This record gives sequence, structure tokens and C-alpha cells, in this order.
Amino acid sequence: MKILVVGGGGREHALAWKFAQSPLTSEVLVAPGNAGTAREPKTRNVPIATDDLEGLLELAKSERVELTVVGPEQPLAAGLVDYFEEAGLKCFGPRAAEARLESSKTFTKEFLKRHDIPTATYGSFDDLDAAMAYVRSQPLPVVIKADGLAAGKGVVIAETLPEAEDTLRNILERNAFGDAGSKVVVEEFLRGEEASFIAMVDDTRIIPLASSQDHKTRDEGDRGPNTGGMGAYTPAPVMTQRVHEQVMREIMLPTVAGMHADGMAYRGFLYAGLMIDAQTGAKVLEFNCRFGDPETQPVLARLRSDLVELCLSTFDGSLETVEVDWDPRVALGVVMASGGYPGSYNKGAKITGLEDIFDEDTKIFHAGTKLDSEDIVTSGGRVLCVVSLDKNVSDAANRAYTTVGKISWEGAFYRGDIGYRAIERECAGDDV
Ligand code: AMP
Ligand code: GLY
Repeated sequence: MKILVVGGGGREHALAWKFAQSPLTSEVLVAPGNAGTAREPKTRNVPIATDDLEGLLELAKSERVELTVVGPEQPLAAGLVDYFEEAGLKCFGPRAAEARLESSKTFTKEFLKRHDIPTATYGSFDDLDAAMAYVRSQPLPVVIKADGLAAGKGVVIAETLPEAEDTLRNILERNAFGDAGSKVVVEEFLRGEEASFIAMVDDTRIIPLASSQDHKTRDEGDRGPNTGGMGAYTPAPVMTQRVHEQVMREIMLPTVAGMHADGMAYRGFLYAGLMIDAQTGAKVLEFNCRFGDPETQPVLARLRSDLVELCLSTFDGSLETVEVDWDPRVALGVVMASGGYPGSYNKGAKITGLEDIFDEDTKIFHAGTKLDSEDIVTSGGRVLCVVSLDKNVSDAANRAYTTVGKISWEGAFYRGDIGYRAIERECAGDDV
């Protein structure tokens, strides 16, 4: 069958690569794709943008696509799945109503409260004075979030009251995030270690995928501005069996049951961003209604099962009967980015070194790249994610950085410490 992957980042390269491996797949179309997907076997890029819902539907119809899988959140929030469903086509992802778990933080906080799911205490405001009064009554630091989609950049952790007040003015008065900031959520600062818990969901059925951890900030030591993610690894040592069970019992199961009870039916990847504290357990920081980027790249590098079969099983109610088989090794991905990211950056730099990589336990996923006649050039902030498999986090990191060191372009940068928390645990002899 033909499969359509919507998107053009590293996550979509990994999805397309994995789908192409299935014996069920005749061809994978990627809209719009990147230079990496352009070069994958059985895979073809189609120049249709992710916000062109009509163009995507026309493509799916004319190519007789039998399964569409949506990578990024914007087309989900815009109702791409609703649109495909009305036309009788299988599209794996939540409809717009369910995608509000990502597209509105106020919706999510109210949902979590209504269903008694652990999360930070909060207030939600569209009025500046009310938000200011609330912030002044809260302990510092305080977390301020634009309500809508802001590409992972709409969150400020304010250490001081003037900083908090200035952030509120930026969002509510100066419209720093446009419509996404017409409301703000102000919440309690949670301490602990973060992990990503990603599952495949079909209404009330859930299959958890391998746990992972990403590094959201630009600079080493988890400092600097937030980005879409600078690297990730799987499994996450912080996700012990005990924490996993608590997350399923107190977060994932009540979330899908809550969606169902509220008259919705969630189908798709569901990503819970968690803060895990040794004493108080896991709490929800956010939901994403899609697979993570860059988590997808290392997680799919470990997936041995057929992802096409897994996606299809969500359409016939057999999700929970499908076995999911994982490579027991660790996978770790290092993102290489354009200088200036997450702010402004140059595009069009020629990438060199890609052709010199010969390591069967390493895969280079492309994100912001495109073909320029014979060359591969940069075309985005996050450019590549180099993923390596090895027996532990330290070795997987060494292997990935060996490849990273061979690739270059003018202005390239990457964090040198991806996986450092897990590596510290390994060095301390912690065997979790
Ligand atoms: P979000 O987009 O809501 O996941 O927030 C982005 C990042 O901000 C998270 O990955 C955390 O590192 C941080 N963050 C968000 N909410 C909180 C919170 N309540 N307490 C501490 N850190 C937070
Ligand atoms: N890696 C974070 C995200 O996909 O939102």
C-alpha cells in the first residue's frame, strides 16, 4: 500500500524510513519531505505544504494512499484528520477536538483538573490585571505559558517578579505570540527530572512506546533558550518500572478514559511531557498530540515491529493485541542545528561529510535540509539528527558524536552533552 507522511522534519524522515521497511508498503510519499526523505528507498517527496489541507487530500485521493500519518501539530490542530475522515480516508492522528490537548494549554489544564490527573497548580487568564494579581500571590520561580501553539518556545520560567510581570505584558499586551498568546497559563514550578512518555492510542486502548528523554534547551547543562529539542535518547533511566506503572495508572489511562467520557475519541500518538520527582511521582507538564521531535528518531531506531501494522491496528480495534518488539540497545540522537537557532539563522549552507559515514549502527535523519542540484544544503534551524545504537548511553553517545564530528557546514552547532544525566548514572554504577 501507499503511505503518506505529512511533514518535512526529522520526525517525518524517521517515520518515512520506518514505514518504507514494512513489507506492506509499496511506496511512501512525504509532503513536503526534505533531502533525507528524497534519498530513502521506496520514498518520494511531493511538494505540498503541511497547511495545504486540500492539496494533501487531493494527493491522497489521486495516489490512492491507504494510510496517512501526520507528523506536526499544526495540521492536526487545523483539522486535517477530520477532513480526511469526511472523505473516508484513514488518517492516523487526533481530530482537531482531541488535538486541543496540545493546541490549548487552558483546555488541557481544565481537562487534567476535571479528571484528577496530577499536574502543576495553575491559573488561566486573558486579562492582564488578573494575571498580574495572581503572579504576585505565587511563590517564585513561576512558569508562564502562552495558551496556544508556539513551537515549544511559548514557556518562560520567571525567577523574579519583574521578569514575570514583563513576560505577562509581552504575551497579553504586546502580543509576542500573536493569537497563541491571547490567553496565558501561569503555573507552579515543578522540580525533578523530565521524561517523554509517548503512546499509540485508539480511543480507550493504549500501547506505550519506549520511554525517552530529550534536551529542550539550546546550551549545555540544560541552559539557555528553549528549542524544539537538541537531542534525545531512549530508554529513559528515570522511567523505572514503578514510575511507568504510576504513569499508566494515574496519567495515561485516566487521560484516554477522560477524553472518551468527555465525548471524544483519541486516535494517534499521544505524548505526555512529564516531570518526575522521586517523592511525589510523575506529573504532566504538557501533552503533545503527535510523536516528539527529536524523540521519534531514536525511538524508531529501536522499534523492530512493523509500524504500518501498528498504525493500521488502531483502525480495526486490535491495537492492544499487537506485540511491540524493541531493540534492547540504547539509541541516542544528537541534533545538529544552524547557528542562531532558535532565533534567526542563515539557510543554504552546503553540508559536507555525509557521504563519509559508514556505520551500520548509526543513522542520519534529516530535518531542515534540501537538495540543491548535487548538494545537500541547510534549510531550517534543526538540520540533522545523528542517531546511534549501542549497549549503553555512554557508548551510544560516543558513537553518535564520532559521526557528528565528520559532518560540517558554515555555522553548524550542536550540544556536546546529550545524555549527560543518564551517563552520570552509568558512571555512578546505577543500574536503573
Ligand atoms: P511545555 O511546552 O509546557 O512542555 O514547557 C517547555 C519546558 O518548560 C518543559 O519541557 C520544562 O522544561 C519547562 N516547564 C514547563 N512547565 C513547567 C513547570 N510547571 N515546572 C517546571 N518546568 C516547567
Ligand atoms: N521534543 C519535544 C517535542 O517534540 O515537543
